[in-house]
Formats: sequence, structure tokens, C-alpha cells
Amino acid sequence: MSAEEYAKIVIQGKEYTYPVMVGSENEKAIDTQTLRKDTGYITFDEGYGNTGSCLSSITYIDGEKGILRYRGIPIDQLAQQSSFLCASYLIIYGELPSEEQLLAFRGKIAAAATLHEDFRHHFEGFPPGAHPMAVLSSMLNTLGCYYPQMSSNNRQRDLEHFDEAACLLISKVRTIAAMTYRMSNGLPTNYPRRDLRYVENFLHMMFTEPYDTYVPPQEVTDALDLFFTLHADHEQNCSTSTVRMVASGGANLFASVSAGVCALWGPLHGGANAAVVKMLQEIHDRGDDGSRFIKDAKEGKQRLMGFGHRVYKNYDPRAKIFGEAAERVLKALGREDPLLDIAKHLEQSALNDEYFIERKLYPNVDFYSGIVLKAIGIPVDMFTVMFAIGRMPGWIANWKEIAESSKKIHRPRQIYTGATIRDYDPKAAKA
Ligand code: CMC
Repeated sequence: MSAEEYAKIVIQGKEYTYPVMVGSENEKAIDTQTLRKDTGYITFDEGYGNTGSCLSSITYIDGEKGILRYRGIPIDQLAQQSSFLCASYLIIYGELPSEEQLLAFRGKIAAAATLHEDFRHHFEGFPPGAHPMAVLSSMLNTLGCYYPQMSSNNRQRDLEHFDEAACLLISKVRTIAAMTYRMSNGLPTNYPRRDLRYVENFLHMMFTEPYDTYVPPQEVTDALDLFFTLHADHEQNCSTSTVRMVASGGANLFASVSAGVCALWGPLHGGANAAVVKMLQEIHDRGDDGSRFIKDAKEGKQRLMGFGHRVYKNYDPRAKIFGEAAERVLKALGREDPLLDIAKHLEQSALNDEYFIERKLYPNVDFYSGIVLKAIGIPVDMFTVMFAIGRMPGWIANWKEIAESSKKIHRPRQIYTGATIRDYDPKAAKA
């Protein structure tokens, strides 16, 4: 070990040595796994900005340079050349599929699209107006109950059924999403069709009416496929870390991705795509071109949704791709959206503003994705559900990594700041 390959920590005059780990992209970490045992100290890192929680070979991000790669392949190449299902296979199995493997994968996903008829009763159990993310999370966990052999919480058994469970989830998450939309709007539901591909089938289940079969324009199908591909994985974000955390306790794939949906829901994570469109609409309704909003954001009164990222301190590469896709899909549909103009103006103002420059705040994936979804006809409260459909292969791949290789339950420590020992007061308890 050379001098650069370990780190020294000095506590109360005593020196401790810890090895340095280096990842395949030269990312460095100090391996402090024995620190507490050696010294009685732990490291403190609220929000985990400096904490590597795992070894992973799925996705690589260099936030300073604006790089995102799935299994080594740059996101812009996948955006141009891959389909969502091809990228899903790559993320889950580590290699691009051969033609034969892709055909088999597509076939299994197509065959798994239908839900058990009894699911209708589960949907009926939700009150009108239930948020689609709450429904989705519940339904994914419920789905596991229909496949006990795949959701046994016995790792060996669950892994034996992994391929089947993965295809089933990628397929049925889209059926659940479409059914949630149709039922919550009092619309007749549509069964999936075997002759349609992944995205077309989803759009059919969403938008076909008994009197009118929905046939999406190619640009719409392409834009949604791109949306799913760009969301397919993003290393240790809030929802993926949640999936891994839940999986580390031995929970099955269905329960783990259901927890991932809940984590994704918040406005600082996947909920941001809906928040962006609401923000742009409010700006539009107030007759502001964005300038007043930027002023408020700088004064800390509001956050510019779709801007900033914990990891990217440069352009989120996905935001660039979506900015172009938004223009393309609107043009192809012959539509104009004043929200796109406001977004472009906000982006330019923020990129030239000292406040945003200093803090390295750039547009993230959600800044333009909502405009793309809106153009496709997806209602705003379904936006985060669309993110969840796209993120499913990433969650599945991360669950697999934990199930195959992790031996330890995830259990962070804390620095306790509460009351020290005191006696129980019976009078207070009676009051
Ligand atoms: N608008 C205005 N100021 C901001 C913004 C924003 N969107 N984001 C961060 N800042 C400021 C923040 O006020 C702070 O300023 P100061 O140093 O003066 O206190 C500084 O920038 C650092 O912010 P932070 O909250 O410490 O940064 P973080 O890394 O904890 O947060 C974030 C990252 C994504 C939660 C945050 O940038 C944010 O709230 N953005 C808006 C919500 C959003 O678009 N979320 C989607 C993220 S991408 C999709 C996904 O992966 O989930």
C-alpha cells in the first residue's frame, strides 16, 4: 500500500489508519467500516452527501462534468439509439441484449400485462381523488400477494423467480398506472393488447375510448419511450436507496419497489416534475414572464422547481435531451405551449444570474419533462407515476444487487440529541 492509499485519522493523539477504496471511474472513498469498533466514534453526514452506502456496478454519474452512464454506456447514446426495454435489460442484466434475448424479454413483458380480475376490487377500495402515487405503491405491494412464490422474503426463493418477477413488474406497473387513471376519472378501463409494443400498449390503456381506439402519433410514442429511458436509473437517489434499504432487511422485490414509489413521491424528488408544471402555470396565470419568480427564489421565498441537484453541479444531461424533445414533440403535434417559453426564459435568466451560478444550480431532469408529458396528454397528477414506470428497471437492478451480494442489513447510526436519563412522572402521565 503506498502512502496515498490510506487515510490517517487522529483522535485524542492516537492515530488510526483506514484504507482508501478506488472505484472503476477513479472515485475515491475512505473505508471507515471499522472506525466505531476501533475508536468509539462514528462519522456524521446528514443527508449522506459524502457517504458511499454500497458498491454498485449499475449506473455512473459524474455530477461535476454532467455525465450519466448506464452500465458504462452514455445516456445520450442510449437516448438516441436504445428503446426503454433494451435499456431496461442492460440495467438489470449488465449487458445489451442480443436480438434473441430482447425478443424473449419483450415477449415475457407483453405476456404479463394483464392484471388478475380481482384487482378491480382493490381499485374500488380507494376514495375518489386518491393520489395515483398512493394507489400505485399499494397496488405494487398487493401484486406480490398474487405471486407468493416470488414474494416469499426468502432470498434464495425470491432470486429463483427473479427474471419472472422483473418482467411482471415492468409490465404490470404500466397496467396499474393506466387503470388508476381510468378508474379515478370514472372512465371504462382498457385491457392490454398483445399486438402493441410497450409504450403504445400503455397509451392504448390510458386513452382508448369504447368509441375511439387511440393510435398515438409516432412522435408521442418516441417521446414517452425517451422519457422512460432517461428515468430508468440514477444511482443512489432517495427512492433507489430506499429500495436497497428495504431489500437489505430481506424484503421481497414487490415490497421493496412499493417503498421506492413512496420515496419518489415527494416534491424534492420525483414529485418535482408535477411541481414544475404547476409553477410554470402559476407564473403564466400571474402574467409574469418568470422574472418575478426568479426574484422570489433568490430571496428564499420559493424554490425554482426543476433546478438544482444534489449530485449535478453542471447541466443534468437529461435536461438537455428533454429540452430538445419538448420542442420536437410540440412541433410535431402542431401545438404551442406558453409554458415552454416561460421555461426557456426562466432557464436563461437563472443561468445568467449570480445566485444560481454561485450555487451551481442548473436545470435538472424535471425541468422540461413535465412539458413533454403535458404535450402527450398525461394529467399532472400522473407525472410522478410516469417517473415510477421509468424507474422500475433501476429499482429492480438495485434490489438484485442487494439480494445477490449484500449480507448486511442497512442500519445507520445517529447522534442522539434528546433528554438524558430521567424518571417517569406518574402525575404527568395522568394529565
Ligand atoms: N431554487 C432556488 N434555490 C435553490 C434551489 C432551487 N431550486 N435549489 C437549491 N437552492 C439553493 C438553496 O436555497 C441553498 O442556498 P443557500 O446556500 O443560500 O442556503 C443552496 O442552493 C443549496 O441547496 P440545498 O438545498 O442545500 O441543496 P441540496 O443538494 O440539498 O438539494 C435539491 C438538492 C434537488 C433538493 C434542490 O436543489 C431542490 O430543492 N430543487 C428543486 C426541486 C427539484 O427540482 N427536485 C428534483 C431533483 S432531480 C430529480 C430527482 O432525481 O429526484
